Amino acid sequence: MAEKKIPDVLLNTGHKMPVIGMGTSVENRPSNDTLASIFVDAIEAGYRHFDSAAVYGTEEAIGLAVKKAIEKGLIKNRNEIFITSKPWNTDAHHDLIVPALKSSLKKLGTEYVDLYLIHWPVRLRHDLENPVEFSKEDILPFDIEGTWKAMEECYKLGLAKSIGICNYGIKKLTKLLQIATIPPAVHQVEMNPSWQQGKLREFCKEKGIHVSAWSALGAYNIFWGSGAVMENPILKDIAAAKGKNVAQVALRWTYQQGSSAMVKSFNKERMKQNIDIFDFELSEEDLEKIKHVPQRRQYTGEMWLSQQGSYNTLEELWDGDV
Ligand SMILES: NC(=O)c1ccc[n+]([C@@H]2O[C@H](COP(=O)([O-])OP(=O)(O)OC[C@H]3O[C@@H](n4cnc5c(N)ncnc54)[C@H](OP(=O)(O)O)[C@@H]3O)[C@@H](O)[C@H]2O)c1
Repeated sequence: MAEKKIPDVLLNTGHKMPVIGMGTSVENRPSNDTLASIFVDAIEAGYRHFDSAAVYGTEEAIGLAVKKAIEKGLIKNRNEIFITSKPWNTDAHHDLIVPALKSSLKKLGTEYVDLYLIHWPVRLRHDLENPVEFSKEDILPFDIEGTWKAMEECYKLGLAKSIGICNYGIKKLTKLLQIATIPPAVHQVEMNPSWQQGKLREFCKEKGIHVSAWSALGAYNIFWGSGAVMENPILKDIAAAKGKNVAQVALRWTYQQGSSAMVKSFNKERMKQNIDIFDFELSEEDLEKIKHVPQRRQYTGEMWLSQQGSYNTLEELWDGDV
């Protein structure tokens, strides 16, 4: 079967980004060789965008997959693949972001990432033995300005073609825009029919920031996710009427909102299904029905609350949008 071309969105940096990205955050991560072969399958299916992060541990496998895909003649060179990465919160210190990106580039085996995103508006102590095992005392106040200036440096050095953020509420984003000389190109947030992010999307649209959806299927079958998207009866009915599945309806919904979707499937059939969404359209009536899907964040973010950090409450973490 000929691969399907995934459309691009034009970012405010003038760079194009494919609107579906392969999510690479995974529990019980397979070996790099296994992962690389899954990612080559994804490239073969038509994926041209990989969403990674230092903390996912998938950068080396993405680098390997790009090399293998070139060897197999699936792509001509690395420039055909859009690679996103993110520094972990232990590197969210103004002097550690550039070194963190250089370390990611080494693992990816490339000279630049297409997009570098602040993973969380959260700073952890740098010297943690295990960066994902931390106590409340390890959470430090977040430095919005210093962190963003370091991201701008990544852009100016040519190490990141575009820069952006994840998981900022409107208040934090407003503050960032006041100090930024380079505005974020992308804001990656939890977004799907069961957490639609209407207000934040409106705000970002006004500011020319592209909103990208993470957990585009509501983190289905993932320990902190649920069936809020995949088992929703409204979406099931629309899918049945369109001759598509619920995942395709959810991804199409994201696309019709003008957003891109980061979706993870390491299953060859499902990864194909998830990009087969450009041959049908949700009607105004369908979109109206989807507005009635019950709204709830899957990822609540309690783990980022602490007295010596920046957020005591979820209201503070999410700028009131809870
Ligand atoms: N910036 C951030 O803070 C942040 C946070 C979370 C996630 N992310 C990014 O967003 C990506 C996607 O989010 P996610 O991995 O949390 O969840 P997700 O993409 O919403 O859901 C993934 C789950 O859905 C299953 N699945 C995928 N396609 C399916 C289909 N067509 N039918 C049935 N099941 C399907 C997958 O299983 P199979 O693999 O078995 O198909 C997997 O269990 C992540 O991998 C990561 O890259 C970013």
